[in-house]
Amino acid sequence: MGKGKLFLLVVWIYLENICTVFSTTAEVNYFGNITINGTDWLIDFSDIESKFALRTAEVPDDDLCYIEPGQVESIVECEFNSEAKTFIVIHGWTVTGMYESWVPKLVTALYEREPTANVIVVDWLTRAQQHYPTSAAYTKLVGRDVAKFVTWLQGTLDYPWEKIHFLGYSLGAHVAGIAGLLTSSKVNRITGLDPAGPSFEYADSQSTLSPDDANFVDVLHTNTRGSPDRSIGIQRPVGHVDIYPNGGTFQPGCDLQKTMKMIVSTGFSNMDQIVKCSHERSIHLFIDSLVNAQEHQSMAYRCSNKESFDKGVCLSCRKNRCNKLGYEINRVRMRRSAKMYLKTREMMPFKVFHYQLKVHFFSKDELSFTEQPIRVSLYGTHGEKEDITHVLPELKTNVTLSFLLTTDVDIGELLMVKITWDKDSYFGWSDWWKKSNFHIRRLRVKAGETQARVIFSSKEGEFAYLTRGGEPAVFVKSKEDQTSRKHERLHKLKMHGSFFKQNTA
Ligand SMILES: *[C@@H]1O[C@H](CO)[C@@H](O)[C@H](O)[C@H]1NC(C)=O
Ligand SMILES: *[C@@H]1O[C@H](CO)[C@@H](O)[C@H](O)[C@H]1NC(C)=O
Ligand SMILES: *[C@@H]1O[C@H](CO)[C@@H](O)[C@H](O)[C@H]1NC(C)=O
Repeated sequence: MGKGKLFLLVVWIYLENICTVFSTTAEVNYFGNITINGTDWLIDFSDIESKFALRTAEVPDDDLCYIEPGQVESIVECEFNSEAKTFIVIHGWTVTGMYESWVPKLVTALYEREPTANVIVVDWLTRAQQHYPTSAAYTKLVGRDVAKFVTWLQGTLDYPWEKIHFLGYSLGAHVAGIAGLLTSSKVNRITGLDPAGPSFEYADSQSTLSPDDANFVDVLHTNTRGSPDRSIGIQRPVGHVDIYPNGGTFQPGCDLQKTMKMIVSTGFSNMDQIVKCSHERSIHLFIDSLVNAQEHQSMAYRCSNKESFDKGVCLSCRKNRCNKLGYEINRVRMRRSAKMYLKTREMMPFKVFHYQLKVHFFSKDELSFTEQPIRVSLYGTHGEKEDITHVLPELKTNVTLSFLLTTDVDIGELLMVKITWDKDSYFGWSDWWKKSNFHIRRLRVKAGETQARVIFSSKEGEFAYLTRGGEPAVFVKSKEDQTSRKHERLHKLKMHGSFFKQNTA
């Protein structure tokens, strides 16, 4: 690189930082005008600062062999398998300047799923441990490094672009996006794991991960709280499929109480992990999809927003409205980015089963309550889940409510449902002289995972009674419900016959 070019580069980095610090919306030509013509820059390896370590299943936690752009021998030395897929893992911002503990975990999970694959970890730690806006601006240079690296690797080995999959976490997701944009052909897939929000929420698609950066771009959003420019994770959709587990804002098991317990049990050494619990959950969800592939495959459902999803109205799988979370995702390429939602457990395996319950509350009296606690128990052919707590935001006479319930137990085909209406914590005088009750004729249940729709009716009599602080209302599968059974049988044949129970007779 000539002195002139170097100077431009320095100026560019400088301007870049200033732009990022003072305005997140600044239009920056990050191709940098460093190169005068075409793809020349792609074969200039002199300014590459990132390192590319081919890790192994045996030693997933150490960089023992670097593939160096321009050094063909290094491909051989590191035993790159040109017949197999390649995963390129890109870390994010770091306070410590060291790899975080998820890196070897993801490497191990990738090898467990694809034993012959090449898992390459990009080391851009030096640039990643700067003041955040500086590191954020460096994503462009690191993206260039990665683009140069894969272009060289592809060209040298005539390696198929379809075998390349980038996985980027936080700032690393934007690095992946920029790298994908700069390669001469599109890589197969980019998985964005909670792409960073600050400096990127309002940036143009050339500076962030976007659907144009690979043949397929899937994104998990797990820590998108607060105002958009303050949110750790980017809030807007940036892929072909954008999944927002638990609404995308905050993940179960990451609350302060749990955090304090974790500090007590593991000490402060894990402090930065604790702070990033929700952010990093994106990675663990992806790892889960790699190692718990068959029986614990989490499903996500397209929905316009979190509030509608929580009402249970989005559990449809028609026209690609549902998809698998993680590695096995179906490549659905919508014209517009599709937001998808699901609930998860607080630990691995993260999968839960989703149910929509639809209930009409009859009463002779004009009743109206808010924030009413209920408990629902589900009994099925495989198991049961009792006392799932739920709060009904509004409970009124002659109104139909729809809400979402989840269980981590696979109860199989649902046979019986019990609903208990609890008294709320403070004592109401109205309870003293009058028992509030509703009667319910039917319960409509839709199961997201099996797509079965079943109608339940009162176990005894025409109506089941739901009394505040009283006995549970019990519902059993309706006898007249032949159509839903047929639907269910057909669905079982389709779903279980294909991927759920593949190996059983
Ligand atoms: C930089 O590149 C852009 C786009 O390629 C071009 O429009 C612009 O004129 C260039 N600026 C300079 C100073 O060369
Ligand atoms: C780049 O420059 C070379 C000579 O330096 C020239 O042969 C080539 O056509 C140029 N490519 C583009 C895209 O301008
Ligand atoms: C609710 O609807 C039922 C049947 O449709 C009716 O008998 C009852 O009077 C209604 N309750 C009120 C408070 O309007």
